[in-house]
Amino acid sequence: MKILVTDDISPLGLAQLEALPGASLVVRTGLSEPELMEEIRDADALLVRSQTQVTERVIEAAQRLRVIGRAGVGVDNIDLAAATRKGVVVVNAPDGNTIAAAEHTFAMLIASARYIPQADASIRRGKWDRKSFVGVELRGKTIAVLGMGRIGTEVAKRAMAFGMRVLGYDPFLTEERARELGVIRKSLEEAIAEADFITVHTPLTKETRHMLNRDAFARMKEGVRIVNCARGGIIDEEALCEALASGKVAAAALDVFEQEPIPADHPLLSFPNVVVTPHLGASTHEAQVNVAIDVAAEVVRVLRGEPFRNA
Ligand code: NAD
Ligand code: MLT
Repeated sequence: MKILVTDDISPLGLAQLEALPGASLVVRTGLSEPELMEEIRDADALLVRSQTQVTERVIEAAQRLRVIGRAGVGVDNIDLAAATRKGVVVVNAPDGNTIAAAEHTFAMLIASARYIPQADASIRRGKWDRKSFVGVELRGKTIAVLGMGRIGTEVAKRAMAFGMRVLGYDPFLTEERARELGVIRKSLEEAIAEADFITVHTPLTKETRHMLNRDAFARMKEGVRIVNCARGGIIDEEALCEALASGKVAAAALDVFEQEPIPADHPLLSFPNVVVTPHLGASTHEAQVNVAIDVAAEVVRVLRGEPFRNA
């Protein structure tokens, strides 16, 4: 039984797979699509993070594949329709990186509100500039959390601890749940029009692609601050660049991009008020161990023909 691993996944999780009778673990990262098509031909299971693109061509090339495990939440890098057609089960690990992603969101929000990366870079250039980096406080400000699932809820709790007024938009957020959390339930239009900070926490789907587009930016307050630690593509990057150029958006903190890695000459990188990280939301030691253990357990269940949880 060949278990193919094509992204960096913690060995603490992979140990469960190695222990399966007859299992042979093949770790090959950084494969091109043709290389992956070759490698997957005789694989029984494939484990990935977000880097490997599991396209229809890749799935079609597989002869024995039974399961694809995603060590994380988003499955937008896997062609789910093609997997379903081929009878391949797709499982993920939705709980293990919630706190890591929520904490990174807050780190990014504060870093951009207080210009921490810019001030750090300025000191390293030999300056002691205390005038250029006057930030804004969070207390008393309104934050819109778009997508009130696992991560959005944890971000909302942290925002409340900073004394922020929290607006929540999510088609599945009930009035009762919102009250329980201390969040004010709003429509998308209301939330983005009232907010000083907007943070997105939805999956990337047909419905959420470019949820923050030109029209949405036009409805926002002057000087709004934007955070995206969910998925590139939820925000229309061209529209964001225009809103940054016009001053409508005062700052943006982005962990994810429409194209990853983001090209070095991307217009977003020319704005000094944009803070970026290379898709690090889930990159804590704790989260990487959690998701590896969780997804490996799911893959083991599928391979053993046992009921699994997160399909
Ligand atoms: P989740 O499924 O718990 O929550 C997603 C929420 O989005 C759900 O409550 C859902 O109802 C809501 N939603 C779906 N469509 C919506 C829409 N059109 N408008 C508003 N809300 C909508 O998932 P989660 O664990 O909170 O993760 C959210 C996303 O964050 C993931 O799908 C993944 O893409 C991303 N993520 C990124 C990182 C990172 O490294 N940057 C880490 C973990 C997760
Ligand atoms: C996820 O969806 O879980 C994130 O993109 C994190 C990751 O895969 O590293």
